[in-house]
Amino acid sequence: MKVAILTSGGDAPGMNAAVRAVVRGCLAKGMDVYGVFQGYDGLIHNNIEHFRASSVADIIHRGGTILRTARSNEFMSREGREKAYENMRKLGIEALVVVGGDGTMRGALDITKETEFKVYAVPGTIDNDLGYTDNTIGFDTACNTALAAIGNIRDTSSAMGRTTIIEVMGRHCGDIALYAGLAGGAENILIPEEEYDLDKIADTILKGVKRGKLHSIIIKAEGVEQSTEEIARILEEKTGYETKTVNLGYVQRGGNPTARDRVLASCFGYRAAELVEAKAESIAIGIHGEELIEYPIEDALKMKKKLYKNFTKICNELL
Ligand code: F6P
Repeated sequence: MKVAILTSGGDAPGMNAAVRAVVRGCLAKGMDVYGVFQGYDGLIHNNIEHFRASSVADIIHRGGTILRTARSNEFMSREGREKAYENMRKLGIEALVVVGGDGTMRGALDITKETEFKVYAVPGTIDNDLGYTDNTIGFDTACNTALAAIGNIRDTSSAMGRTTIIEVMGRHCGDIALYAGLAGGAENILIPEEEYDLDKIADTILKGVKRGKLHSIIIKAEGVEQSTEEIARILEEKTGYETKTVNLGYVQRGGNPTARDRVLASCFGYRAAELVEAKAESIAIGIHGEELIEYPIEDALKMKKKLYKNFTKICNELL
């Protein structure tokens, strides 16, 4: 049995741990394993290598992905995908494990609809924006990275008596903002899924100052339409307090994965190896609570993301 693995879309800390688990899990079950470099582009351009156990040595703790990654435009066309299928057939590959976010899952779905290949999808994205699973690989590390930055910014914000708006990643999903914001003691969290009122936010800042608070921290998700700079300008006008902005950006994508992400990635990866061995139907792997779950990829993609309840309200009331 020949199986290939790739990582695709935005890299996420813990992807390496997933690659290691898939490769070693499949080798332990007597399979032939191939690593595909640069996501779906690597399938199209035959950037594929035969892997041994040593190919994934010393990577469990490393951020990024040794397989590298890409957002492949070519794979979005049938012509591009046919090139990829031809390369897979030439090598005799029967199954593919993909690690990535929603774009990666959509690519996986195309493969299952157009070919005989079995595809097992492992959720990996810092955004945590896949509706069918509670958690994705990389989310916990990104939250902890954001949290460390929030801590540093609090120190200087207190010393200077400032309001600071910190923008975190999350294109359509406010999960990083909600988690890092609540854990970091932010007064307000702005996310794309919820409306906000800048008058109310200005009030909370002024109330805090009255009580002797030295700083105000507001966490804003990238996906919120209004720009961070515009919000800062409006709040500065309304409160009279200096308001700074910080965009954490790609810092959140790198770094050593947390224990939580390494464990999640190892469990997802090992499960993928079991599914390959069983020649199971193509499926997306996820987690609910502490239980691993599986959904057909098409169903998984249709499932709506649930919002973490009350996080913004809790922040507002705990200030
Ligand atoms: O998908 C994860 C993510 O980091 C998003 O939070 C962000 O909007 C996007 O990727 C950035 O993508 P790129 O690396 O292509 O600039």
